[in-house]
Amino acid sequence: MTAGDITFHTRKWVRPEDLNANGTLFGGSLLRWIDEEAAIYAIVQLGNGFAVTKYMSEINFVSSAQQGDLIEMGLTATAFGRTSLTMRAEVRNMFTRQSILTIEKIVFVNIGLDGTPTAHGYSEITYDRDRLPGEHLKIKDLEC
Ligand SMILES: CC(C)(COP(=O)(O)OP(=O)(O)OC[C@H]1O[C@@H](n2cnc3c(N)ncnc32)[C@H](O)[C@@H]1OP(=O)(O)O)[C@@H](O)C(=O)NCCC(=O)NCCS
Repeated sequence: MTAGDITFHTRKWVRPEDLNANGTLFGGSLLRWIDEEAAIYAIVQLGNGFAVTKYMSEINFVSSAQQGDLIEMGLTATAFGRTSLTMRAEVRNMFTRQSILTIEKIVFVNIGLDGTPTAHGYSEITYDRDRLPGEHLKIKDLEC
């Protein structure tokens, strides 16, 4: 594994409720899945359950997916900032490997217990689970 390689983690089965009026995969469903995937990736990389979506660049819907298709979503970190993490995303057909969507830049910001951007201290990708937060605290739990 070299930096820049996309790791495809999550698979989805395109179901009737995920379709648009043309009978192909609805872009809104795909974006919801990608945002969640990116949030999980950011939490694993930054070791912090408080990470929020800050920015997404142009979204390129390269090709459509059909009901019954199996698709897989991949992400890789492309830059570690002081408080931010930038990722690249791709979704592809699991069998044909045909690209379905690409997003060049998704930026998440590491949020501290005070609710503001906070330095995360990381500069490289982890491929392990060594940064996972021990437990998920909610900010409201700490407001006492
Ligand atoms: C995330 C949030 C706290 C950041 O606040 P902010 O005032 O922009 O913070 P900063 O200016 O300190 O920027 C924080 C980081 O984001 C980066 N950033 C800010 N705007 C950016 C943009 N448009 N594109 C890319 N990166 C950006 C900054 O470069 C900085 O990164 P660095 O510390 O690694 O250099 C604030 O914008 C916010 O609460 N947004 C709403 C988030 C949200 O609700 N998301 C959807 C639900 S998860």
